[in-house]
Amino acid sequence: MQYEQQIEALLAQMTLAEKIGQMRQLHGTGENQKNLVREGNLGSVLNVIDAEAHEIQRLAVEESRLGIPLLIGRDVIHGFRTIFPIPLGQAASFNPDLVREAARVAAREASGAGINWTFAPMIDIARDPRWGRIAESCGEDAYLASLMGVAMVEGFQGDDLTAPEAIAACAKHYVGYGASENGRDYNTAWIPEVLLRDVYLAPFQAAAEAGAATFMSAFNDLNGVPTSGNEFTLRQILKGEWAYAGMVVSDWASITEMIAHGYAADARDAALKGVTAGVDMEMASTSYAEYLAELVESGAISHDLIDDAVRRVLRIKFRLGLFNQPYANAAAAETLVAPDHLALARQIAKESCVLLSNKETLPLKQQTKVAIVGPLADHAADQLGCWVFDGKPEDSQTPLQAIRGLLGNEQVVFAQGLAEARSTDDGLFDEAVAAAQTADVVLAFLGEDAGLSGEAHSRAFIDLPGAQLALVDALVATGKPVVAVVMAGRSLVLGELQDKVQAILYAWHPGTMAGPAIADLLFGLDNPSGRLPISFPRTVGQVPVYYNRKNTGRPPSEDAPSIPTGTPLDPSGFTSSYLDVDHRPLFAFGYGLSYTTFDYRNIRLSSPKIGFDQTLSISATITNTGNYAGAEVVQLYIRDLVGSMTRPIKELKGFQRIALEPGQSQEVTFELRSADLSFHNNAMQKIAEPGEFHVWVAPNSLGGLQASFELGA
Ligand code: GLC
Repeated sequence: MQYEQQIEALLAQMTLAEKIGQMRQLHGTGENQKNLVREGNLGSVLNVIDAEAHEIQRLAVEESRLGIPLLIGRDVIHGFRTIFPIPLGQAASFNPDLVREAARVAAREASGAGINWTFAPMIDIARDPRWGRIAESCGEDAYLASLMGVAMVEGFQGDDLTAPEAIAACAKHYVGYGASENGRDYNTAWIPEVLLRDVYLAPFQAAAEAGAATFMSAFNDLNGVPTSGNEFTLRQILKGEWAYAGMVVSDWASITEMIAHGYAADARDAALKGVTAGVDMEMASTSYAEYLAELVESGAISHDLIDDAVRRVLRIKFRLGLFNQPYANAAAAETLVAPDHLALARQIAKESCVLLSNKETLPLKQQTKVAIVGPLADHAADQLGCWVFDGKPEDSQTPLQAIRGLLGNEQVVFAQGLAEARSTDDGLFDEAVAAAQTADVVLAFLGEDAGLSGEAHSRAFIDLPGAQLALVDALVATGKPVVAVVMAGRSLVLGELQDKVQAILYAWHPGTMAGPAIADLLFGLDNPSGRLPISFPRTVGQVPVYYNRKNTGRPPSEDAPSIPTGTPLDPSGFTSSYLDVDHRPLFAFGYGLSYTTFDYRNIRLSSPKIGFDQTLSISATITNTGNYAGAEVVQLYIRDLVGSMTRPIKELKGFQRIALEPGQSQEVTFELRSADLSFHNNAMQKIAEPGEFHVWVAPNSLGGLQASFELGA
């Protein structure tokens, strides 16, 4: 690697105290931090921006003995000042190129504030919508999350990490955090190694291969060992098998939280376990500062272990070019919420929205008189979603503002309906009903406020909050058609809502430009094209429900459930089904409607059989058979029919977004190689096995055109 000589030269000058200093990150910039920086005993700060960032960086560069610049980190998760949809929404775009652009804009804006490191992408696979952090994830599928995570790494870091607007990415939370038991945050995770490697590690391996500068260890314990003290995942896999040369930072105080886990006896023990396992920098807590010197002097850890960690920290600082240009990217400071940034935010918000149902109601004509009702119609902060540090609600353009701007005030009547998303007080219903009665169509803006998802914000019930369904009942009772626009940080249980309303547009938390994006879609200025990155359960009792499930020895019945009457002849059957609910999700992974229709026909394979060193081409013809131009996300799924391990009934292996005018057709071709068909067997070998495969070219994970092929020697 290109900086090794400089790293070694610098390392040779450093005292043990200065080395340990590089392994520390503290929050904020008080006198303590400034003194530590002057003494060369602090390598990084987080949550410091603008003038404060400049000053503490200046202290490091100009007043410390060796002038080693600081890493200045911040959670730039889905935008800095221009806020894009939450990552779960961005994943719904199935558009990695757009996601990469959004990360680039976020990096540009953040670099102007003196930030050189973001704690993103969050690429935890999440199959449990009770977990509040599913909002920050790229969903339930390893293939999609890998592509999205790589796009974000590439956007943040660009081709040249020394560029003024580039910032270091951080693949988090390594690893298995999304499998927190029962969706309760920070909870324990039990993941068999084959599942860990096939599903939860896959996006992290992709991020490492894409050059993610840093990784962040997680809060959870994995199979009994906290991930911030886990030599198996950190040293054997990340730094060993993957030969990762970047740097690992702990998540907040996850090093000393190993005491609460019951894995470390005290802070000294925590420091020993963290650094031995391979956490190179301790965020927030101070066990490294307090005990590493003594641990080295006592021989409990070697100088080599410290030197390896410090090399990794210094390597990031050299890769970032901080020794030449440690300060903010001044040119970028002027780009905050620039028109092109807002235009991109509008576009990605549009492509993230998923049309879940539409009973021939949308799109609306611009001559329509609309009643806009609901707690999320005009909530500038809630539409931004979780993990927003520097986005400003005053920059938000809300749906109410945008629709008034599009139709004119005289065509729009507004009523709050509920004081806030969680309100159970129906005191504003009458006003909302009165508004509805004056309109042709009611637009009900429902869902979760930003505080119901994100870190430590898990929900045991994932229904529309408060009295929102009661509000919908009151609106429907007017006899007016009701269209629901739902903002949320997770999949919600929407069965009742679907029955009551004419259409559902799912917008996640769409960010600064929520209003124009939603208005464009509702009134046909653009056509919804989002597809679901997570399955939507019919009830929380189904969770976890995900598309790439196993078939079991008694596959679920495709018939409607039936509750036995107690006679032995009951048709309940003995299959992996529920008595009281259809086993399938209400809305499936990859699903999303359009204002037009797309016809799939003529699936063709380049060969009925491929060898292990050959490539299979799969083609199909997609036609826009409706009246609107639209984008379709053509998806490729496989199924390995027989394996040395049971295999999922479907696995996403490719997708392509294509734009088609009415009547236009396009041939879409995918390629598969044996590596695409591989999985980890019980011996932890990643292998593809000979045999028969099904393959689908499909609009979602449920159906599509099916064919078969054989992989053989
Ligand atoms: C938080 C989060 C992590 C974030 C870090 C710094 O606790 O778990 O995602 O990057 O601390 O804010």
